[in-house]
Amino acid sequence: GTVALAFSGGLDTTVCVPLLKEEYGYDDVIGVTVDVGQPSYEFDEAEETAEALGLDHYVVDATEEFADLCLQAVKANADYQGYPLGTALARPVIAKAILDVAEQQGCAAIAHGCTGKGNDQLRFEAVWRDSDLEVIAPVRELGLTREWENEYAQEKGLPVEGGDGGRYSIDTNLWSRSIEGSELEDPATIPEDDIYLWTENPSGKDAELVDIEFEDGEAVAVDGEELGSVELIERLNEQAGAHGVGRTDMMEDRMLGLKVRENYEHPAATVLLTAHEALEGLVLTAEEREFKQQVDQQWSQKGYQGLVDAPLTGALEAFIDETNERVTGSVTVKLEGGHCRAVSRESAYSVYSESAASFNEEAVTGSITQEDATGVAKYHGFQSRLANKVLEKAKGK
Ligand code: ARG
Ligand code: SIN
Repeated sequence: GTVALAFSGGLDTTVCVPLLKEEYGYDDVIGVTVDVGQPSYEFDEAEETAEALGLDHYVVDATEEFADLCLQAVKANADYQGYPLGTALARPVIAKAILDVAEQQGCAAIAHGCTGKGNDQLRFEAVWRDSDLEVIAPVRELGLTREWENEYAQEKGLPVEGGDGGRYSIDTNLWSRSIEGSELEDPATIPEDDIYLWTENPSGKDAELVDIEFEDGEAVAVDGEELGSVELIERLNEQAGAHGVGRTDMMEDRMLGLKVRENYEHPAATVLLTAHEALEGLVLTAEEREFKQQVDQQWSQKGYQGLVDAPLTGALEAFIDETNERVTGSVTVKLEGGHCRAVSRESAYSVYSESAASFNEEAVTGSITQEDATGVAKYHGFQSRLANKVLEKAKGK
């Protein structure tokens, strides 16, 4: 029979190719690489490795679909413990694309190179176990370590990068780049700067302003230039990456309960999330903002779990999309020294009244004046003052 393998050309998926034949008895392995906006160098590597392995290699382009999902994530201000979910959001997209190929090619099984310790196994299999295909996870089932994989690859003369090439486990797509493993597994180890590829060391660079335009909560233009979702994200990755914007070094609580040290870079995600939240701050009411934080957190949770197809996600999106019908306008973000912050925001849906809030004018909204606040100020904190007094008295006895 034939097995379809989720193939990236990295160490894990490369060693899976011979193992699926030797250990699982499959005659044929087809490798499927799904384009979710990896930079072309990684993509070329996958093609070259596949060729060297003599692997029947399929490439599926899911870049647009993934980019649209990233922009939906921005509407939900989505992050998990500070990580903007790049790997997590890409997994169901990749899983579906591979399943389609596997079914078209009449495969009997479908395989991934994820470990039994991580999140990705769960995200892939949540999609695949909806089919009748056998699901195979060689790294998990054979208990492989990266050390063993490196030795095995060398023995077999498999086309993996020698030396430091396989040192880290790296996952890249349009939305983020994740670097884990090796010395980074010690949370006390300070990473070398060269683990980062998209973000420059920002020292000495002049600040830069970038203008993001949103329509219904979706970013549509950068500095006045209308761009499709893929181009828009690519452009911001470059522009903000040059200022060192979007590095995360964190402890992450995985679904299985393990903590891991993770390093990420995600310049466009940081800029878009910052800008979007700033625009929501201008157009949403206080109670909408407060409630939306809870909705956003739930959405992010489903995103992290790789379950963006869950009925709950759709229901949450109904709220997110409705509130975001007013998130139309523009935000200027300042890129400076590894940080970004919103420095200007404008919208036709602004619920901000300059004359009401101004310190300069004795202006009024309707017929409300400053003096009208006197009564409110007298009442504010009344209950707390009373409670503290009662407590003092009771203790004094
Ligand atoms: N821990 C992250 C997540 O669950 C990213 C894992 C990325 N994988 C990797 N091999 N670097 O989304
Ligand atoms: C893996 O363990 O295969 C990668 C990391 C993850 O899935 O969280």
